[in-house]
Amino acid sequence: MLKPLVVANWKCNPPSQKEARHLFEVVRKGIKTGTVPAKRGQSPSIEVVICPPFVWLKESKIWEIRSQKGSKSPKFWLGAQDCFWEQSGAYTGEISPAMLKDLGCQYVIVGHSERRKYFQETDEMINQKIKAALKAGLKPILCVGEETRDNSDYLIIEQQLEKALFGVSAGRIKDLVIAYEPVWAIGTGQPCLPDEAMKTALFIRKILTKLYARKIAEQVRILYGGSVTAKNAADYVKGAGMDGLLVGGASLNGTEFIEIVKMVCR
Ligand code: PGA
Repeated sequence: MLKPLVVANWKCNPPSQKEARHLFEVVRKGIKTGTVPAKRGQSPSIEVVICPPFVWLKESKIWEIRSQKGSKSPKFWLGAQDCFWEQSGAYTGEISPAMLKDLGCQYVIVGHSERRKYFQETDEMINQKIKAALKAGLKPILCVGEETRDNSDYLIIEQQLEKALFGVSAGRIKDLVIAYEPVWAIGTGQPCLPDEAMKTALFIRKILTKLYARKIAEQVRILYGGSVTAKNAADYVKGAGMDGLLVGGASLNGTEFIEIVKMVCR
Protein backbone atom coordinates (compact mmCIF):
# COMPACT_ATOMS: atom_id res chain seq x y z
CA MET A 1 0.00 0.00 0.00
CA LEU A 2 1.23 3.49 -0.84
CA LYS A 3 1.70 5.89 2.04
CA PRO A 4 -1.25 8.33 2.09
CA LEU A 5 -0.50 11.94 1.29
CA VAL A 6 -2.57 14.92 2.44
CA VAL A 7 -1.79 18.23 0.74
CA ALA A 8 -2.94 21.66 1.94
CA ASN A 9 -3.33 24.14 -0.92
CA TRP A 10 -3.68 27.56 0.69
CA LYS A 11 -4.10 29.21 -2.74
CA CYS A 12 -3.85 33.05 -2.46
CA ASN A 13 -4.40 33.01 1.32
CA PRO A 14 -3.99 34.28 3.99
CA PRO A 15 -3.31 37.95 3.19
CA SER A 16 -0.81 38.66 6.00
CA GLN A 17 2.33 37.01 7.31
CA LYS A 18 0.90 37.10 10.83
CA GLU A 19 -2.12 35.05 9.77
CA ALA A 20 0.05 32.68 7.74
CA ARG A 21 2.25 32.05 10.74
CA HIS A 22 -0.76 31.45 12.98
CA LEU A 23 -2.25 28.94 10.54
CA PHE A 24 1.08 27.20 10.16
CA GLU A 25 1.46 26.96 13.95
CA VAL A 26 -2.01 25.48 14.43
CA VAL A 27 -1.31 22.87 11.77
CA ARG A 28 2.17 22.09 13.09
CA LYS A 29 0.98 21.59 16.66
CA GLY A 30 -1.99 19.56 15.52
CA ILE A 31 0.14 17.24 13.44
CA LYS A 32 2.53 16.78 16.35
CA THR A 33 -0.08 15.86 18.93
CA GLY A 34 -2.95 14.57 16.88
CA THR A 35 -1.59 12.06 14.40
CA VAL A 36 -0.43 8.50 14.73
CA PRO A 37 3.23 8.72 15.78
CA ALA A 38 5.82 6.75 13.92
CA LYS A 39 6.94 3.66 15.79
CA ARG A 40 10.63 3.39 16.45
CA GLY A 41 12.41 2.32 13.31
CA GLN A 42 9.30 2.76 11.18
CA SER A 43 8.51 5.59 8.85
CA PRO A 44 5.45 7.76 9.59
CA SER A 45 2.04 6.41 8.58
CA ILE A 46 1.19 9.46 6.51
CA GLU A 47 2.81 12.35 4.67
CA VAL A 48 1.50 15.90 4.96
CA VAL A 49 2.43 18.70 2.57
CA ILE A 50 1.70 22.38 3.19
CA CYS A 51 1.60 24.59 0.09
CA PRO A 52 1.52 28.25 1.15
CA PRO A 53 1.83 31.15 -1.31
CA PHE A 54 5.39 31.70 -2.59
CA VAL A 55 5.95 34.70 -0.31
CA TRP A 56 5.35 32.65 2.86
CA LEU A 57 7.54 29.73 1.81
CA LYS A 58 10.79 30.95 3.29
CA GLU A 59 9.26 31.79 6.65
CA SER A 60 7.41 28.48 6.63
CA LYS A 61 10.69 26.65 6.13
CA ILE A 62 12.21 28.41 9.12
CA TRP A 63 9.14 27.63 11.28
CA GLU A 64 9.24 24.03 10.08
CA ILE A 65 12.92 23.51 10.94
CA ARG A 66 12.48 25.05 14.39
CA SER A 67 9.45 22.95 15.16
CA GLN A 68 10.71 19.59 13.98
CA LYS A 69 14.00 19.44 15.84
CA GLY A 70 14.03 16.14 17.68
CA SER A 71 10.37 15.51 16.85
CA LYS A 72 9.20 11.94 16.22
CA SER A 73 5.84 12.97 14.86
CA PRO A 74 4.94 12.44 11.21
CA LYS A 75 7.02 14.70 9.07
CA PHE A 76 5.43 17.34 6.98
CA TRP A 77 6.86 18.79 3.83
CA LEU A 78 6.69 22.12 2.10
CA GLY A 79 5.30 22.48 -1.37
CA ALA A 80 4.72 25.32 -3.83
CA GLN A 81 1.50 25.94 -5.73
CA ASP A 82 3.16 26.38 -9.13
CA CYS A 83 6.56 26.82 -10.77
CA PHE A 84 8.09 28.05 -14.02
CA TRP A 85 9.57 25.73 -16.66
CA GLU A 86 13.06 27.28 -16.74
CA GLN A 87 15.51 27.18 -13.84
CA SER A 88 16.64 30.82 -14.28
CA GLY A 89 16.79 33.62 -16.83
CA ALA A 90 15.07 36.79 -18.01
CA TYR A 91 11.49 35.84 -17.11
CA THR A 92 10.10 38.69 -15.02
CA GLY A 93 7.89 37.56 -12.19
CA GLU A 94 8.52 33.84 -12.48
CA ILE A 95 9.68 31.43 -9.75
CA SER A 96 11.80 28.50 -10.89
CA PRO A 97 11.89 24.90 -9.64
CA ALA A 98 15.57 25.34 -8.74
CA MET A 99 14.65 28.28 -6.48
CA LEU A 100 11.92 26.25 -4.80
CA LYS A 101 14.24 23.34 -4.22
CA ASP A 102 16.87 25.65 -2.78
CA LEU A 103 14.28 27.04 -0.40
CA GLY A 104 13.54 23.58 0.95
CA CYS A 105 10.42 22.59 -1.00
CA GLN A 106 9.91 18.93 -1.81
CA TYR A 107 6.66 19.14 -3.76
CA VAL A 108 5.08 21.47 -6.29
CA ILE A 109 1.48 21.55 -7.55
CA VAL A 110 1.37 21.74 -11.35
CA GLY A 111 -1.59 22.23 -13.67
CA HIS A 112 -4.18 23.25 -11.08
CA SER A 113 -7.47 24.08 -12.80
CA GLU A 114 -7.29 27.66 -11.51
CA ARG A 115 -3.94 28.07 -13.31
CA ARG A 116 -5.43 26.55 -16.44
CA LYS A 117 -8.50 28.83 -16.24
CA TYR A 118 -7.16 32.20 -15.05
CA PHE A 119 -3.62 32.04 -16.46
CA GLN A 120 -4.32 30.11 -19.67
CA GLU A 121 -1.92 27.31 -18.84
CA THR A 122 -1.94 24.68 -21.55
CA ASP A 123 -1.09 20.99 -21.30
CA GLU A 124 2.15 21.76 -23.17
CA MET A 125 3.17 24.34 -20.55
CA ILE A 126 2.27 21.90 -17.80
CA ASN A 127 4.42 19.24 -19.48
CA GLN A 128 7.40 21.61 -19.46
CA LYS A 129 6.79 22.50 -15.83
CA ILE A 130 6.68 18.84 -14.81
CA LYS A 131 9.95 18.09 -16.56
CA ALA A 132 11.63 21.17 -15.02
CA ALA A 133 10.31 20.31 -11.54
CA LEU A 134 11.62 16.74 -11.78
CA LYS A 135 14.95 17.99 -13.07
CA ALA A 136 15.29 20.24 -10.03
CA GLY A 137 14.49 17.33 -7.70
CA LEU A 138 10.92 18.35 -6.83
CA LYS A 139 7.95 15.98 -6.77
CA PRO A 140 5.21 17.36 -9.00
CA ILE A 141 1.56 17.00 -7.98
CA LEU A 142 -0.17 17.01 -11.36
CA CYS A 143 -3.82 18.11 -11.25
CA VAL A 144 -6.25 16.69 -13.78
CA GLY A 145 -10.03 16.75 -13.97
CA GLU A 146 -13.05 17.32 -16.14
CA GLU A 147 -14.94 20.64 -16.22
CA THR A 148 -18.52 19.54 -15.95
CA ARG A 149 -20.27 16.81 -14.06
CA ASP A 150 -21.81 15.06 -17.05
CA ASN A 151 -18.49 14.84 -18.82
CA SER A 152 -18.06 11.21 -17.98
CA ASP A 153 -16.19 9.83 -20.99
CA TYR A 154 -12.79 10.53 -19.37
CA LEU A 155 -11.44 11.80 -22.67
CA ILE A 156 -10.28 15.07 -21.15
CA ILE A 157 -8.46 13.31 -18.34
CA GLU A 158 -6.78 10.94 -20.77
CA GLN A 159 -5.59 13.86 -22.92
CA GLN A 160 -4.42 15.86 -19.92
CA LEU A 161 -2.35 12.90 -18.70
CA GLU A 162 -0.89 12.02 -22.07
CA LYS A 163 0.13 15.60 -22.85
CA ALA A 164 1.41 16.44 -19.36
CA LEU A 165 3.54 13.28 -19.21
CA PHE A 166 4.84 13.42 -22.77
CA GLY A 167 8.56 12.59 -22.68
CA VAL A 168 8.62 11.94 -18.92
CA SER A 169 10.61 8.77 -18.45
CA ALA A 170 9.38 5.71 -16.58
CA GLY A 171 12.24 6.10 -14.13
CA ARG A 172 10.84 9.46 -12.92
CA ILE A 173 7.21 8.53 -12.64
CA LYS A 174 7.34 7.26 -9.06
CA ASP A 175 8.22 10.84 -7.99
CA LEU A 176 4.99 12.09 -9.47
CA VAL A 177 1.66 12.43 -7.67
CA ILE A 178 -1.61 12.80 -9.54
CA ALA A 179 -4.51 14.72 -8.06
CA TYR A 180 -7.90 13.98 -9.54
CA GLU A 181 -9.78 17.25 -9.11
CA PRO A 182 -13.10 17.50 -10.96
CA VAL A 183 -13.37 21.23 -11.67
CA TRP A 184 -17.07 21.27 -10.81
CA ALA A 185 -16.28 20.03 -7.31
CA ILE A 186 -13.61 22.61 -6.46
CA GLY A 187 -14.77 25.18 -3.94
CA THR A 188 -18.43 24.42 -4.63
CA GLY A 189 -19.29 22.35 -1.57
CA GLN A 190 -20.43 19.63 -3.99
CA PRO A 191 -17.78 16.93 -3.82
CA CYS A 192 -17.56 14.05 -6.22
CA LEU A 193 -19.00 10.84 -4.78
CA PRO A 194 -16.23 8.60 -3.38
CA ASP A 195 -17.27 5.79 -5.74
CA GLU A 196 -16.97 8.11 -8.75
CA ALA A 197 -13.56 9.29 -7.57
CA MET A 198 -12.44 5.68 -7.21
CA LYS A 199 -13.66 4.85 -10.72
CA THR A 200 -11.69 7.78 -12.12
CA ALA A 201 -8.60 6.79 -10.11
CA LEU A 202 -8.81 3.32 -11.68
CA PHE A 203 -9.06 4.92 -15.09
CA ILE A 204 -6.02 7.13 -14.35
CA ARG A 205 -4.05 4.05 -13.32
CA LYS A 206 -5.12 2.34 -16.53
CA ILE A 207 -3.75 5.24 -18.57
CA LEU A 208 -0.50 5.20 -16.60
CA THR A 209 -0.23 1.47 -17.27
CA LYS A 210 -0.74 2.11 -20.98
CA LEU A 211 1.89 4.89 -20.99
CA TYR A 212 4.41 3.05 -18.83
CA ALA A 213 3.83 -0.35 -17.24
CA ARG A 214 1.61 -1.77 -14.57
CA LYS A 215 4.41 -2.03 -12.02
CA ILE A 216 5.25 1.62 -12.54
CA ALA A 217 1.62 2.78 -12.53
CA GLU A 218 1.10 1.08 -9.18
CA GLN A 219 3.76 3.25 -7.57
CA VAL A 220 1.99 6.54 -8.35
CA ARG A 221 -0.22 8.04 -5.65
CA ILE A 222 -3.57 9.27 -6.90
CA LEU A 223 -5.25 11.85 -4.66
CA TYR A 224 -8.76 13.25 -4.65
CA GLY A 225 -9.42 17.01 -4.43
CA GLY A 226 -12.62 19.06 -4.55
CA SER A 227 -14.67 20.22 -1.52
CA VAL A 228 -12.89 17.86 0.87
CA THR A 229 -13.87 18.39 4.52
CA ALA A 230 -13.27 16.61 7.81
CA LYS A 231 -16.68 14.97 7.32
CA ASN A 232 -15.96 13.33 3.97
CA ALA A 233 -12.15 12.83 4.10
CA ALA A 234 -12.26 9.25 5.38
CA ASP A 235 -14.77 8.22 2.69
CA TYR A 236 -12.21 8.87 -0.04
CA VAL A 237 -9.15 7.32 1.56
CA LYS A 238 -10.49 4.58 3.86
CA GLY A 239 -13.66 3.98 1.88
CA ALA A 240 -12.75 4.42 -1.76
CA GLY A 241 -9.03 3.65 -1.54
CA MET A 242 -7.68 6.97 -2.82
CA ASP A 243 -4.02 7.49 -1.89
CA GLY A 244 -4.67 10.84 -0.25
CA LEU A 245 -6.31 14.24 -0.58
CA LEU A 246 -5.65 17.70 -1.98
CA VAL A 247 -7.46 20.15 0.30
CA GLY A 248 -8.18 23.77 -0.62
CA GLY A 249 -10.73 25.76 1.40
CA ALA A 250 -10.77 23.43 4.41
CA SER A 251 -6.98 23.71 4.78
CA LEU A 252 -7.37 27.38 5.74
CA ASN A 253 -8.99 26.28 8.97
CA GLY A 254 -6.09 24.70 10.84
CA THR A 255 -8.29 22.71 13.20
CA GLU A 256 -10.34 21.27 10.38
CA PHE A 257 -7.24 20.43 8.36
CA ILE A 258 -5.85 18.50 11.33
CA GLU A 259 -9.15 16.63 11.59
CA ILE A 260 -8.77 15.67 7.93
CA VAL A 261 -5.23 14.42 8.55
CA LYS A 262 -6.45 12.40 11.53
CA MET A 263 -9.25 10.84 9.48
CA VAL A 264 -6.70 9.64 6.95
CA CYS A 265 -4.32 8.43 9.65
CA ARG A 266 -6.73 6.27 11.61
P1 PGA B 1 -11.37 22.96 -2.41
O1 PGA B 1 -10.14 23.15 -3.40
O2 PGA B 1 -10.95 21.95 -1.37
O3 PGA B 1 -11.60 24.33 -1.82
O4 PGA B 1 -12.51 22.49 -3.21
C1 PGA B 1 -9.36 22.07 -3.81
C2 PGA B 1 -8.30 22.54 -4.73
O5 PGA B 1 -8.53 23.46 -5.52
O6 PGA B 1 -7.19 22.01 -4.74
